[in-house]
Amino acid sequence: MASSELLQKIRLNGRIPRHVAIIMDGNGRWAKQRNLPRAAGHKRGIVAVRESVEGALDAGIEILTLFAFSTDNWQRPRSEVLALMGLLRLYVSKETQKLREQGCEVHVLGDLDALDASTTKSVEFITTETAGGMHLRLNLMISYCGREEILRACRQMMKRAASGDLLAEEFDEASFEAALFTAGLPDPDLMIRTSGESRLSNFMLWQVAYTELHIASVLWPDFSREDLFRAVLDYQERDRRFGRVTVG
Ligand code: FPP
Repeated sequence: MASSELLQKIRLNGRIPRHVAIIMDGNGRWAKQRNLPRAAGHKRGIVAVRESVEGALDAGIEILTLFAFSTDNWQRPRSEVLALMGLLRLYVSKETQKLREQGCEVHVLGDLDALDASTTKSVEFITTETAGGMHLRLNLMISYCGREEILRACRQMMKRAASGDLLAEEFDEASFEAALFTAGLPDPDLMIRTSGESRLSNFMLWQVAYTELHIASVLWPDFSREDLFRAVLDYQERDRRFGRVTVG
């Protein structure tokens, strides 16, 4: 089905996910299939990032969250880590203006203290340049993992408690969520993982409690806006009950 037909179906169905999160997986396999270095798969992954941004804008998704670099990825060979950081900087230099023109507000979330100086500068640049974008909030999760995010939030809460700023009774979902990187955002309605793997891989562990999962077999570098639309259509067929029963 063509992109425009898929989009029309999505609009007819009407229930657009506000927040979509994606585990972009399969860059290495994509490169291997072509006898290319792994970095070539990551580089091609930038095209798929553009596709998903365009698709999200077309479909009216408000928030798109991409898992771009996990805390565990620091353990990959140094050459691959450097290539990924270089790609992030390349992404910023190539895409910032377009993102800004399209009204995308970019946030980079994760343990950013671990980034080198020039990557930190790029992160600051894209964040400042796109601030105020009204059409799509794009979260790039970098040096991120869900367990560390939860521990970090707990540490903040413990410090507040120790200083008398937080009572045990005030430690609830709302106060805890305010200490997560995603503070103020709704939980993802839909999480997509590419390359056919069905794992969460330490991504947004708190936030996905009631998120619908869609596993796409396509490798990330080949992910297109049509793949995003198909995931949204799959989501629109789900009966979300949040642990309750469907009435009627
Ligand atoms: C997983 O594929 C992907 C990553 C670790 C990095 C994702 C990065 C990009 C898509 C490019 C940069 C993105 C931005 C936003 C600048 P993998 O290497 O684990 O693939 P494999 O499982 O096939 O080996």
